[in-house]
Amino acid sequence: MSAGGERLRLFCALRLPGESVERVAAWQARELRGGRLVPAENLHLTLAFLGALPAAELPALAAALGAAAAGAREIRLSLSAYRETRSVGMLVFDDEHGRAGALAATLAGSLETLGLYRREARPWSPHLTVLRFAAAPRLQPPLPALGVVSPSDAAVYSSHLRPSGARYEVLEAKPLGG
Ligand code: 2AM
Repeated sequence: MSAGGERLRLFCALRLPGESVERVAAWQARELRGGRLVPAENLHLTLAFLGALPAAELPALAAALGAAAAGAREIRLSLSAYRETRSVGMLVFDDEHGRAGALAATLAGSLETLGLYRREARPWSPHLTVLRFAAAPRLQPPLPALGVVSPSDAAVYSSHLRPSGARYEVLEAKPLGG
């Protein structure tokens, strides 16, 4: 163990109900190619990526997420597009009434106050990363029929990087208010 103790690569994310995850997984298998599919157990909507932090910060982080999640109003997401960046394909959602964005902003503010996080320059946007690739396959798949999706809860995850792809582990799950 290093002098500072164990460090964990951490992020906070919204999780989707099992039924939505199953639909996305079936759609990935049907429509996506040219890269590595993100496995169903890794599908999430990132709220804040913190990077490597001392494990001792975990209780403060979980408390901040719990408070922000409890204060959230009902989040309603509808699928708007499939997009590719240079390295990933993602499903992008519309955030009805901006409530997921409000939760992300509240969480970011609390984590900044705790000195655990610095907000990214780009605006937060709810998305599910579904494909990772070395060269963009430039797919234009039909979108899965998900209807309006309300996340099931919010979680603190640790990310374990491996050559075969990251493995994510839920360390703490927090209920959403609303
Ligand atoms: P993504 O959802 O857009 O792929 C765990 O790595 C999660 O944190 C991923 O889902 C990833 O985003 C998100 N993330 C955000 N910023 C990151 C960064 N700088 N490095 C790694 N992951 C990041």
